[in-house]
Amino acid sequence: MEPSDISKEIKRLVDLVRYYNECYFQKGISEISDYAYDQLLERLIQLEQAYPHLKRPDSPTEGIGERSVGVAVAHQIPMRSLAKTYLEAEIVQFVERVKKMVPDVVVDFICEPKIDGVALSLLYEQGHLVRVVTRGDGQKGDDITAHATQCLDLPQKIQSAPSASFEVRGEAFMPKAVFLALNSGRSAKGAPLWANPRNLTAGTLKALDLALVKDRQLAFYGYSFYDASYNCPTQEAALVLLGRMGFSIPSTYKVCDDVRAIMDYIHYWAQHKKDLPVDVDGIVVKVNNLHQQRMMGTTAKSPRWAIAYKYQPEMAHSILEKVSFQVGRTGAVTPVAHFRPIPLAGTMVRRASLHNADEIARRDLYLGDTIFIEKGGEIIPKVVGVDRTRRDKNSKPIVFVRACPACGTLLHRTPGGAAYYCPNTQHCLPQLKATLLHFAHRKAMDIHTLGPKTVDALFEVKLVQNAADLYTLRYEAASQLAGFQALSTQKLLANIQASKTKPFDHLLFALGIKHIGETVAKQLALHFRSMERLQRATQAELLALPNIGEKIVQSILDYFQDPYQQAILSGLQAAGLQFALPESSGILMPLDRAQNSMAYAPFEAGLCASKKFVISGTFQKFTRAELAQAIEQAGGRVLSALSSKVDYLIAGHKAGPSKLAKAMQWSIPILEENDLIKMIQ
Ligand code: IVH
Repeated sequence: MEPSDISKEIKRLVDLVRYYNECYFQKGISEISDYAYDQLLERLIQLEQAYPHLKRPDSPTEGIGERSVGVAVAHQIPMRSLAKTYLEAEIVQFVERVKKMVPDVVVDFICEPKIDGVALSLLYEQGHLVRVVTRGDGQKGDDITAHATQCLDLPQKIQSAPSASFEVRGEAFMPKAVFLALNSGRSAKGAPLWANPRNLTAGTLKALDLALVKDRQLAFYGYSFYDASYNCPTQEAALVLLGRMGFSIPSTYKVCDDVRAIMDYIHYWAQHKKDLPVDVDGIVVKVNNLHQQRMMGTTAKSPRWAIAYKYQPEMAHSILEKVSFQVGRTGAVTPVAHFRPIPLAGTMVRRASLHNADEIARRDLYLGDTIFIEKGGEIIPKVVGVDRTRRDKNSKPIVFVRACPACGTLLHRTPGGAAYYCPNTQHCLPQLKATLLHFAHRKAMDIHTLGPKTVDALFEVKLVQNAADLYTLRYEAASQLAGFQALSTQKLLANIQASKTKPFDHLLFALGIKHIGETVAKQLALHFRSMERLQRATQAELLALPNIGEKIVQSILDYFQDPYQQAILSGLQAAGLQFALPESSGILMPLDRAQNSMAYAPFEAGLCASKKFVISGTFQKFTRAELAQAIEQAGGRVLSALSSKVDYLIAGHKAGPSKLAKAMQWSIPILEENDLIKMIQ
């Protein structure tokens, strides 16, 4: 770029960032997503660093564009912000960097939720709260003591602190339930709705007319404690101390001793943050030992001992470069969109499912289109929309294939179904390979040395074509495979041998009968107890089972009537696999364990059993009575009044605001109808 272009670009970014700051801080409106805002700011910082002489004196990177409401107060210790990233790889780099800073020492980390609110500093003298100050530009902030006293329930007098004068820092925020209640009040009055809890928190703490914000119940989580005469040994100890002093703290924190545990925490909360009573926009990873923190120090902007991993918006856009067609285990052909790589929910993504032919037709997709991609709940990304206004006149529409891209067989479509299938179950390679991989899956026969590469190698030399062939595999032949050492061959054969003892329900699932997942396989195994009885089951008998519909029944009948599958079954039986449950045995149902024992994790082992529920509001799928009945059938109890002993509040439309507020106060998880249904299932 020419210097004049760079200068123009810097001006454009400065204007944009200033504009969004003004909307945000002065009008309480967010016109841009956090992610897009961060991208703008990041680009501006990069350009200013590369061309310092072009940096503008009015650049917003010099401090955030706040409006002053109170007297400016200098912070005794600067209130820095955190370095942040949207990429998991940068968390790994952070951990490595930290370890290098203090070699030969064990470094523990502490992960905390990054609360999406407003940072505050609370000053206590002689145990009394004397001042509440905003972060401001980091060096000095605004005294908002009067506002805080109105809208925040902060400990006013603390006797249990290590010394009389200290500072507590943390985040003020509006609990989701309070926000919802306020907005439902506004919608009843026909007033415009507030955009989000964070903006409303910022607006509330800076409101000119205090009387207007009296009903805005904000909350505060403390996360730092500063005392000139007392050092906490660790961040965890500081949080515990703050809790003991009467502050709410982010109780879902976790001490992690390696990067894997940090990632697990990040992934866990990506899924479950929606269950928390507060908006969480990321995870803060800090070095736990405060002495180590001091050794690492800070840069001008942020501490070296911490980083914020920010959850990305789960939607982004990119350019569609190509569509390929993948053949799955059941022969279903799935169109896959290939697009320019984009960061999404922590990883770079370049491919997303387009589901089926109908979806392509409905979206009316063309090559080169700008497409929107979503990654909900960390599953496979999917294309959720297209911006037709940006379509090039000369681009070509995407056409769904008519023949199998792997074996050339003409595709079939089940009447009324959306998917096209390749009917060549016996010879279509991707189907055969995927079927074998499914058979070896951990939850099926658990032959863990049989991964995609081994399956490719076995098919390459035609040593194996189906699951039964695995059990006739001999050492001499297997050891000839490319890349197979003696040890890996022995391991593979030992795993195959061991799989013979896998119980009947695992085998039933492993067979890969269409629509038979793990749960249905268990149910069928428990009911029929042997392959022979299942094979003999009539359509009526199968249909009589709970949760087994026509599609599943037809698939079971088709499977057992198919001579190709019959031959494989005979092979498996001859090899001595478990074709029946042992007499009078049950099946141990695996429990979905939550990854840790964090305060708000609602789906811990035990699920509904002996848990206490309160139901409030109206629901879409079920009546209150039906939900209550379902809970009781699953071993739970339904109470009418909320107390701190209640385990879950099931909140529907127009749930009682006082119930919601109490649940927040007692940290009782608030679940929606769908969460409850999942829990019961
Ligand atoms: S620690 C040196 N911990 O995130 C800064 N910050 O730029 C130490 N935030 O506005 C901050 N949750 O107020 C820390 N658990 C948490 C946090 C947290 C939210 C905010 C903080 C600041 C921003 C970081």
